[in-house]
Amino acid sequence: MNAIIEKINRALAEAETRAAAATDKAAIEQLRIDYLGRNGLFPALSKEMGSVPAEERKETGRAFNAGRTRIQELIDGAMERSGSTAADSVTERPDLTLPGRRRMTGHKHPITMVADECVAVFRRMGFIVADGPEIEDVFHNFDALNTPQDHPSRDEQDTFYFPDGRILRTQTSPVQIRVMESHEPPVRIVAPGRVFRRDTPDATHGMNFHQIEGLYIDRNVSMADLKSVLQTFATEMFGSGVKIRLRPHFFPFTEPSVEYDFSCHMCGGKGCPVCKNSGYIEIAGAGMVDPAVLRNVGYDPEVWSGYAFGMGIERLAMLRYRIPDLRYLYENDVRFLEQF
Ligand code: DAH
Repeated sequence: MNAIIEKINRALAEAETRAAAATDKAAIEQLRIDYLGRNGLFPALSKEMGSVPAEERKETGRAFNAGRTRIQELIDGAMERSGSTAADSVTERPDLTLPGRRRMTGHKHPITMVADECVAVFRRMGFIVADGPEIEDVFHNFDALNTPQDHPSRDEQDTFYFPDGRILRTQTSPVQIRVMESHEPPVRIVAPGRVFRRDTPDATHGMNFHQIEGLYIDRNVSMADLKSVLQTFATEMFGSGVKIRLRPHFFPFTEPSVEYDFSCHMCGGKGCPVCKNSGYIEIAGAGMVDPAVLRNVGYDPEVWSGYAFGMGIERLAMLRYRIPDLRYLYENDVRFLEQF
């Protein structure tokens, strides 16, 4: 028996013991590395094979092959006992054919998306965007808009007052005043933004919601201009199938005043909780700017006239995306937001 065969026999005896004791994957893998791995015993022995005398070569080769096979059997047996299979170690390698993991990216909130869309539509009609503060004074929010001192909207039940007398704006209409105070006519603006009211939240009301205000002042502006701009807006946002409805109404800052409805997209006009069974959703208040408002900002009502409108952005979003309840827009549940 030559030195190589002796080494193989010693290795086999040792490997039997180690394999019997190896219960975890790491120990089994170490066994493989020590005997069959690139720097393990058997590859080393195969290099020594060259120095074996010719007459011993056959026997040594047979012992070498039998030894290597036996080691593999010991490894397989240990794997089986430990509950892992050869296939396990294969699946642990990354599978390059799997599709990549998509990184979640955020996107604009549906309210912002609809507001942006409204602005884009009005921009195409020549309106520019104006902005105003959310913390307003009573003058801009009520007085200059011709709101009587005893108007219910001024009540603390409806309006959030700060101790210093300022308020959270209840509408985007004060932006009209701010724009006219600082610009000579003609003006043509839209002002999207957040407004605040002490409403009890339900499917179509929130304490804090969004409006987009529009104002156009020029010479000889008429109600027909108002109707056409609102019709164009409805068509651009919801397609030519949308039905619109104007109803006479009252606002302190417009005369005449109207409320403006879109047919309900949730139920197609049949009646559902969103439209409170009426088939229509109130979208906008609008009208011809009251001469008193023009005088408050120093515009001559004999020369200038105009229209104004204000719409609820949440209502538009609900119609656009068929959202049955306004409150989904504020809960920030990602399962809801992901859908947009
Ligand atoms: N500010 C009104 C509201 O909050 C909406 C509105 C009505 C705006 C008529 C207007 C308008 O500009 O002309 O209900």
